[in-house]
Amino acid sequence: MTSPLSPVPPAEPQDVLLPLTDAAIFLVASVNPGGEGGVRDLLGFVDGTENPSGAAATAAVSIGGEDPAFAGGSYVIVQKYLHDMAAWNALSTEDQEKAVGRTKLTNIELPDAVKPSNSHVALNTLVDADGNELQILRDNMPFGNVGRGEFGTFYIAYASSPAVIEQMLENMFVGRPPGNHDRILDFSTALTGGLFHVPTSDFLDDLPAMPAAEATVPAAETPAGVGGPAGSAPAGGSLGLGSLHGIE
Ligand code: HEM
Repeated sequence: MTSPLSPVPPAEPQDVLLPLTDAAIFLVASVNPGGEGGVRDLLGFVDGTENPSGAAATAAVSIGGEDPAFAGGSYVIVQKYLHDMAAWNALSTEDQEKAVGRTKLTNIELPDAVKPSNSHVALNTLVDADGNELQILRDNMPFGNVGRGEFGTFYIAYASSPAVIEQMLENMFVGRPPGNHDRILDFSTALTGGLFHVPTSDFLDDLPAMPAAEATVPAAETPAGVGGPAGSAPAGGSLGLGSLHGIE
């Protein structure tokens, strides 16, 4: 086994961390790097490159005139993914690049002729009926807990409408076309997730009257929750997305 103390510096931080997972580690501090334009996630790829910026970013995240009572607010989705680093690292760099849809070192999008339809980038590129790209703003955070051997990505994204996020998730988990699911999900498992509305501060300062209480819908009458068995709501606020993967 290569010693983590080898004088030759390894290419990736996780190459140092992973061999240590069996050792006794005491966590003193946990630091998550952040930054404009994306950092490398634990899969080794730059994450956030195709985020919109400036006015396009504002448009991508802000509820507009289509929902005037909530205009200026946003939606945010948070999901905790764990990566199977051993399985991911067993892939060649070329196969990793095909899973993501970009080159690893130089962070260039693969040409359409080479980019597989089940790559992460291909499945998350959405256009509307007029050919305009539907965008969201992502602010993913890599995280790790060496003591527990957990390495993953906190997926955090803002959008003007839950519909865009839901379509991306459907493409990833169900597949486009169905069955052609996102290759990175063979190495990344969504453990928890939630979709939240983010109201404006003006909205919170002057809350509208509460709507009249509606009758509670019995569980048996609820539609099949995303990822849950038919007739059951996802538990604990989770989208239950992990369970979608692998459904025939
Ligand atoms: C394990 C969790 C995830 C990881 C590690 C990950 C990583 C990446 C990476 C490396 C890229 C390419 C560079 C970039 O443009 O940022 C990317 C692109 C993207 N991802 Fe993810 N992602 C994850 C989950 C998700 C989820 C759950 C969604 C949507 C619901 C999503 C939506 C997107 C979008 C929209 C793009 C840009 C596609 C494009 O236009 O090129 N990602 N992601």
